[in-house]
Amino acid sequence: MGFLPSDESERSDAVLFAERLVFGPLLFQGVVSLRRRGVLQKLLRRGGEGATLETLLGELELSRYGLTVLLEAGLAAGVLQVDDEGVYRLARVGLLFERDPMTIANLDFVADVCYRAAAHLDASLDSGEARGLRELSDEENVYQALSTLPEPAKTSWFAFDHFYSDRAFKDLVPRLSARAPKQVLDVGANTGRFACALLAADERVRVTLADLPNQLAVARRELEERGLSARAHFHPIDLLSPELSLPEGFDVIWMSQLLCCFGEEDVLRILRAAARALGPGGELWIVDTFWDRQKQRAAAVTLMGTSLYFTTVANGRGRMYDSATMLRLAQEAGLSVKSVEDSLGLGHSCIVCGSAR
Ligand SMILES: C[S@@+](CC[C@H](N)C(=O)[O-])C[C@H]1O[C@@H](n2cnc3c(N)ncnc32)[C@H](O)[C@@H]1O
Repeated sequence: MGFLPSDESERSDAVLFAERLVFGPLLFQGVVSLRRRGVLQKLLRRGGEGATLETLLGELELSRYGLTVLLEAGLAAGVLQVDDEGVYRLARVGLLFERDPMTIANLDFVADVCYRAAAHLDASLDSGEARGLRELSDEENVYQALSTLPEPAKTSWFAFDHFYSDRAFKDLVPRLSARAPKQVLDVGANTGRFACALLAADERVRVTLADLPNQLAVARRELEERGLSARAHFHPIDLLSPELSLPEGFDVIWMSQLLCCFGEEDVLRILRAAARALGPGGELWIVDTFWDRQKQRAAAVTLMGTSLYFTTVANGRGRMYDSATMLRLAQEAGLSVKSVEDSLGLGHSCIVCGSAR
C-alpha cells in the first residue's frame, strides 16, 4: 500500500502520464513528422470537417503504412482525435503545434539541437562536460560553436534564444531608456538584438557589446547592416578566463539570458567581476528566467527541461536557476539587490543590483 495513488482514476492518470513519458521520445518524433510532413497543417486547414486517412493519403507524400503509424502516434500523443467514421481532427494540443509560436520554437529546438544529444546525459553527468554536443560540433562548448553549427540546429538554436529574449527586451528597453544611461555594457551580446533595440530607442546611449570573438563578429555585422554601429563598441571577452575583468565606467551592465549558461562557481566569478567594474551609482541588470518565479506550471517545466540542454549540449555546467540561488550568489559577490521585477516578456525576471561597496 502507499506508493500507488488509491483513487482508481488518479492511478490511471498517473499510468497514462508515465507511459507518455516512457514513449515520449518516440511519440515526440512522431509529432515532429506529423508537423514537418504537413499532416497537422492539412488538418488545421480542414478545421471541424477533418479528414480520413484516405483523403490525407491523396494529399500527402506518405505511404499508407507511414501515414497510419503517424496518425496513431498523434492519437497516442493527444495531438489528434478520431471519430467513429475514421475522421481525424486536430485536438486542442495539436492546434498548439501549428498555431503557437512558443510551442513551435521549443519543438524545433528540442528536435534539432537537443534530441540526439540527450542520449549522452549520463556521460555528461559523469564527466561534467556536454558530451551530447559531439552530435553537432567538435567545439568545446556550444557558445564556441554557435556561428558554425550545422543547419537546422543553428536556425533552431537562435529562434529559441530570440523567441524569449526579444519579448523580454520589448518590456525592458523602455525601462532602461527611462533611466537615461549614457554607457551600457551588454555582456553576452550574442547577435546584438538587445544593443540594436536600445540604440534604436535611445539616440544618446552608447553600447559596448562583449562576447566571444566569433559571436561578436556576427553582432558587428548586424549592427553595421542596420546602421547602428556608430554608437557601438565591441569588446571580445572570454568570461571563463581565470583573470576575468570587465571594462569599467558603465552606468549599466546588462546580462540577459547569460548567467544560466554557467555553473554556480563561474556565475559567482562573473558577478564578482561585475561588482568590481561597477562605479558609484552604476547598476547591474540581470535578466533571466527563474523557474520558481513562473506563473504557469508549463513555464517551470520548460525551464527545468532546458536545464538538461545545458547539461548535454551547452557546456555541462549551466542550468536554469531558481531566483533564491541567483540572489544568494549576487550577495556573495558583493552586490546589493535593489529590486526584483517578474513577469517581463514571457516570464523573465529582472534583478537590479548596485555595488555593496
Ligand atoms: C543564451 S545567449 C544570450 C544572448 C543574449 N544576451 C540574449 O538575451 O538573447 C548567451 C550568450 O553568452 C555568450 N557566452 C557564452 N559563454 C561565453 C564566454 N565564455 N565568454 C563570453 N561570452 C559567452 C554566448 O556567445 C551568447 O551570446
